[in-house]
Amino acid sequence: MQELRGKVAVITGGASGMGRAFADRFAAAGMRIAIADIEVPVLDQAVAELESSGAEVIGVCCDVSDHESVRDFGRAVEEAFGSAHVVCLNAGVASGGLIAEQSLKSWRWVLGVNLFGIVHGLDVFLPGLIEQDEGHVVMTASIAGHTSFAGLGPYNASKHATVTIAETLYSELREVGSGVGVSCLCPGFVATNIFSAERNRPEVLQDTPGEPVSDEDRLGREAVLEWMAANAMQPAAVADMVHDAVTSDTFWIFTDEDHLIQIAERHERIRTRQNPNAKRISEDLFD
Ligand SMILES: NC(=O)c1ccc[n+]([C@@H]2O[C@H](COP(=O)([O-])OP(=O)(O)OC[C@H]3O[C@@H](n4cnc5c(N)ncnc54)[C@H](O)[C@@H]3O)[C@@H](O)[C@H]2O)c1
Repeated sequence: MQELRGKVAVITGGASGMGRAFADRFAAAGMRIAIADIEVPVLDQAVAELESSGAEVIGVCCDVSDHESVRDFGRAVEEAFGSAHVVCLNAGVASGGLIAEQSLKSWRWVLGVNLFGIVHGLDVFLPGLIEQDEGHVVMTASIAGHTSFAGLGPYNASKHATVTIAETLYSELREVGSGVGVSCLCPGFVATNIFSAERNRPEVLQDTPGEPVSDEDRLGREAVLEWMAANAMQPAAVADMVHDAVTSDTFWIFTDEDHLIQIAERHERIRTRQNPNAKRISEDLFD
């Protein structure tokens, strides 16, 4: 899509982090903005700030893991703006822990948001894009969709799934000559609130509701947040890349070069039938 002015951008998880930056970037390109997010105070703040910058925007409280909630979001977009054009399926959460110790609740939460959030978004918005033969879907995957960091099983699974859904959809749309584009965003480390994702975990999916975070977990998280603040990429820079990928119809969006080496090493190990040797994500950050 080369001309974005006056068109409609739909962004899940658009209240904070990268999604919020996409909203700012697409608003600056003259688009009307529809944000879906589960965190209402931050959502309200995002809408107020975008409005005061002159954007036309709606914010809808939505849980992307719930099909009906995403359908309601779709109806709200239709009512406010008519059809969608750029659809960013971006809402995501992360939860650490070894697979051997992982609870079903953690699997359900992470796959519910990261994988079914994508599936529900496609179910609601893709038919309209295909029908109008114009639009672009951006799916937020991760480097974790190309590697297998130890200690991040459900997250890795959700992001590998996202990568292959995006690739498959791209090929299927090209096969029929569709005017709908697809991009797969694979960020490295970006300074957002992802390491506080538990803030949005529903109580029914918490392993130990109400239990305070252990000192070890708290200190680990603080160290990561400190590292992120000093070293990670800024969301606005990623948003520029996403904007450019939409207007140039580019599929892959990688935010940094470092991880491409890890991905190449993994592919080489697969090609030469060597056993995996992926690190913990914390080793990746601090080595
Ligand atoms: N920050 C990174 O380093 C990084 C790296 C790779 C991929 N990602 C991916 O980027 C995407 C955006 O995350 P971020 O880093 O901006 O983090 P973030 O926590 O700042 O933003 C995520 C947004 O999703 C929303 N959300 C969470 N659960 C939801 C639900 N059930 N329904 C609707 N909205 C929900 C949150 O409220 C938040 O606004 C995620 O898919 C994440 O996995 C992040």
